[in-house]
Amino acid sequence: MKVTVIGAGNVGATCANVLVHKDFLEEVVLLDIKEGTAEGKALDIWQSAAIENYSTRCIGVTNDYAATADSDVVVITSGLPRKPGMSRDDLISTNAGIVSSVTENVLKYSPNTILIIVSNPLDVMTYCAYLTAKLTSNRVFGMAGILDTARYKAFLASELKTSPKDIEAVLMGGHGDTMVPLPRYTTVAGIPVTELIAKDKLEAIINRTKVGGGEIVNLLGTSAWYAPGAAAAQMVEAICKNENRIFPVCAWLTGEYGLKDIYLGVPCKLGKNGIEQIIELQLNSDEKALLDASAKAVKEVMDVLDKMNTTKAN
Ligand code: NAI
Ligand code: 2OP
Repeated sequence: MKVTVIGAGNVGATCANVLVHKDFLEEVVLLDIKEGTAEGKALDIWQSAAIENYSTRCIGVTNDYAATADSDVVVITSGLPRKPGMSRDDLISTNAGIVSSVTENVLKYSPNTILIIVSNPLDVMTYCAYLTAKLTSNRVFGMAGILDTARYKAFLASELKTSPKDIEAVLMGGHGDTMVPLPRYTTVAGIPVTELIAKDKLEAIINRTKVGGGEIVNLLGTSAWYAPGAAAAQMVEAICKNENRIFPVCAWLTGEYGLKDIYLGVPCKLGKNGIEQIIELQLNSDEKALLDASAKAVKEVMDVLDKMNTTKAN
């Protein structure tokens, strides 16, 4: 199978590197607009194959979409990352232009591909790609929930001095400060997390998770890439191997959770058709109120995109 990663920056190159190491694809194409960047990084990645013992070929191209033809999955990471003091929403107009033009180009050569959007603001860029691509919504979705959940798990594992591998959790909502980690659906080796951690400590971890992206932006002066790249690669793997794994995915809702015409993070089953199923949990009234607040925040930014009228379907 063939996968293309658009944007050979921090997240895109990391995603490509994680994918080739998993060694289940024939080819990973890395594409960037900046002359030589994708070629250089792909060559460097490919030169690690003999050391790391994998066969997946990594190819880099500058804006040559013909090289992406017949990709089974395309990951879109092109766009500006956040700088200190910037919200994800500040990125909207620039990144909407980039995401819509990239999506058009991708679709010319891979008309039936599955699109995974990573560019920020995530929920709205996924909507932007959906409007442009005109694919069914099971084939256009966004990566954020795996990353946000991984941060939540990392903080819990540090506090509990346990392996993150034993932590299962559900996190829903938009990729922003209104995201909704769900302690009621968080377990450590099957044990409810609430039995292992004091309420105030859990509360602090939830709050840290909500600003987990910003914490890294403040430390690095740009946004994270190791965990985001690995998260997107995990989604690609679930699709290409038809694993039917359940992850939080930014998906188009058509009435699930009482919400419609919105992209929002919800638990989804990922397999060969992309989103095979959106899973509806029985949220209590407090959880539902938090999800509704998150949906409201996302919808406001989607409305900004609609008003820009550059990508709206007519
Ligand atoms: P980066 O600046 O390192 O890389 C972006 C790359 O996109 C650059 O190499 C740039 O040349 C390329 N690019 C720009 N316009 C392009 C076009 N029209 N066609 C092809 N390539 C183009 O940024 P980084 O750190 O890789 O982040 C990428 C995006 O992912 C940002 O929008 C960032 O906010 C977002 N992000 C989203 C996360 C999520 O959880 N969904 C997590 C981390 C980052
Ligand atoms: C992150 O969560 C900024 O969306 C980016 O790291």
